[in-house]
Amino acid sequence: MPMNTEKKFYEMDIDERLSFISSKSNISKNEISTAVNQPLPFDKVDRMVENAIGNYSLPLGIATNFVINEKEYLVPMAIEEPSVIAAASHAAKLARSCGGFKATADSSIMRGQIQVTNMLDIKKAMRTISKNKESLLKMANSLSKNVRAIDLKTRVITSDVDRSKMLVSELYVDCKDSMGANTVNSMCELLGPEIERMANGNGKVNLKILSNYATERIVISKATFKKEELGGTEVVDRILSAFAFAFSDPHRAVTHNKGIMNGIDAVSIATGQDFRAIEAAAHAYASRDGRYRSLSIFTKSSKGDLTASIEIPLSVGIVGGISTVHPTAKMSLKILRVKSASELACVIASVGLAQNFAAIRALSTEGIQKGHMRLHAKNIAVAAGAMGKLIDIVAETMYSQSNITIDNARAILHELQLKSS
Ligand code: MEV
Repeated sequence: MPMNTEKKFYEMDIDERLSFISSKSNISKNEISTAVNQPLPFDKVDRMVENAIGNYSLPLGIATNFVINEKEYLVPMAIEEPSVIAAASHAAKLARSCGGFKATADSSIMRGQIQVTNMLDIKKAMRTISKNKESLLKMANSLSKNVRAIDLKTRVITSDVDRSKMLVSELYVDCKDSMGANTVNSMCELLGPEIERMANGNGKVNLKILSNYATERIVISKATFKKEELGGTEVVDRILSAFAFAFSDPHRAVTHNKGIMNGIDAVSIATGQDFRAIEAAAHAYASRDGRYRSLSIFTKSSKGDLTASIEIPLSVGIVGGISTVHPTAKMSLKILRVKSASELACVIASVGLAQNFAAIRALSTEGIQKGHMRLHAKNIAVAAGAMGKLIDIVAETMYSQSNITIDNARAILHELQLKSS
């Protein structure tokens, strides 16, 4: 949101923060607070996973300043790492001068894969499956009114293990506003025996499973950052050089993309997405030309400003799955006010880009440790027993002494307590 209120979001206390979100989202403070603070009841947890013993909680924060496709967003992020939310918010603020982020997302097509092995006549099997495509699609669609199987293709894969041939039938499913894993898997399992029957009597169906490599669900987000707001041409050039490093070297690219995933995972976790699927697809996509590269691209505009873009597969949903049962995930989606899975994908990609820009800008200028160490000092102060206002005093004293250790925190705290007694 445009932070033109008196206080910045980070300067507000928790009550003011909840009031602010409430005023922007029309959700009562009480409703927000309950949804983001209550652990899941044990009976729910026990139904979600096996051998359950309790809950695991992460900090939930709000990234501010995001404008994506001309709409303002408050973005919930669940993450334990300091500086990430502040960095995303700051990047989003800088992007606003050039209109914020412009993002587009493909429709929500996922592929399910049905593997057939041991075929005597692979070409004949392919012809039979393709001849029966319509009836196979009809069968798949008997499982769902909303999520629809729209196409079925077959291809031959040669095993890189023993050079044997396998036939893979790929079911293309429009998952609309859901991530789609459950429905696609059920469709594949339903079609499996039927496809086996069509595979000349000899073929054996093996795997029947969704592919998480969501190459039909690509999202692109772009933003421009004014050179004057970045510190001039030298900073733009340093960022471009950081990008060239990540584009050219997998060791740097992994860390560069980790910075992107800091944002993508944090929003995905907050909104109840399958972040493992998102991660797996992202890194495969980063290697799509045969070499692992940065997922983002940076260039210089004709005016000398920095242009940034990201292209990434994102299979996310706003209906079905955990996003409709977990109260915090549900609340995060409400705060975001997204109306479709593709809108959510646009937000997530834009946060990833913002995060990445913020990281490489910091790395190209003052480094990231300064900000990190300030927050780290606060955690050390708390660990040493500081409470209330003493946390900031102990942390700042340690920071100014460049001695952020638990022993120093205890010593400073002891001295402060002696003075006040
Ligand atoms: C730390 O969580 C992420 C960074 O290492 C990303 C990067 O190096 O670009 C700062």
